[in-house]
Amino acid sequence: MEQYELDAVRAVTTRPAKEYRTVTVDPVTPVIGAEVSGVDLSKELSDDQLAELKQAFLDHHVLVFRGQELTDEDHKRFAGHFGELRPVNPPPVDADPYVLEISTGAEADNVAGNGWHADGTADAEPSLGSMLHITRVPEPGSGGDTLFANMHLAYEMLSPTMRELLDGLTAIHDGLVAFQGYTPPEGYVIPKSEHPLVVRHPETDRRILYVNKAYTARIPQLSPDESRALLDLLCALPAQRPLLSCRIRWTPNTLVFWDNRCVQHHATYDYHPHTRYGRRVAINGGPLKG
Ligand code: SIN
Repeated sequence: MEQYELDAVRAVTTRPAKEYRTVTVDPVTPVIGAEVSGVDLSKELSDDQLAELKQAFLDHHVLVFRGQELTDEDHKRFAGHFGELRPVNPPPVDADPYVLEISTGAEADNVAGNGWHADGTADAEPSLGSMLHITRVPEPGSGGDTLFANMHLAYEMLSPTMRELLDGLTAIHDGLVAFQGYTPPEGYVIPKSEHPLVVRHPETDRRILYVNKAYTARIPQLSPDESRALLDLLCALPAQRPLLSCRIRWTPNTLVFWDNRCVQHHATYDYHPHTRYGRRVAINGGPLKG
């Protein structure tokens, strides 16, 4: 590892652990993810619990809550503590407009999210975060894990010269990239937006490498070839650097809450012919600033 990479990793791994009084927070890795226990999300949480969960979310970026029996109302109430609920787009037919079904049948050829991405980055105001509640998992040992990667650290591990170059650039995020090979549903207005390539987290001000393979089409300040080469390099980082990521194995009634601003995720489809079912609620974010 280069010295600047070591320095970036150590700045994260040697941070003093936070003390929590009202919830239990066990890190999944030193750089991303935490299992949270001692809370029942079907009940109203106390102000102290909520404040500690908000802190844990900023510290770990992905929170895992196991054994949660939740109705849609419980799920939406919990999400609502973190911001305004984000309607599903395109809207589901004859179903709750805020709840996206994540369902894999025995005959599926692929699953939603089977590639590194963050949700909704082509929108002018991308999502703050998503909460996925999985109630049916493939047979034990049959897969269906989700991977999550820390895009703060992806940025911080780049060389100082590369970081300086990226800091002045923007990127076009285009919903059409995500639909490659598929026809968008009729009437769907495909979102397309330009964001700084390096954004600052609105709550911590920490920098984030904000590009992902599913949505990022082009860096307009560069030639098409330069843009492609740089995006290929940057979008490959979550897959190329295992240190950035954690892998969550689902058990029935697990809710995972991730920060779409600083985390990319990847659903794994390795469980054919087993089935998997869950429901996802998302939270609106604001405009992103560099
Ligand atoms: C997604 O939100 O991309 C789906 C994640 C999953 O099914 O694990």
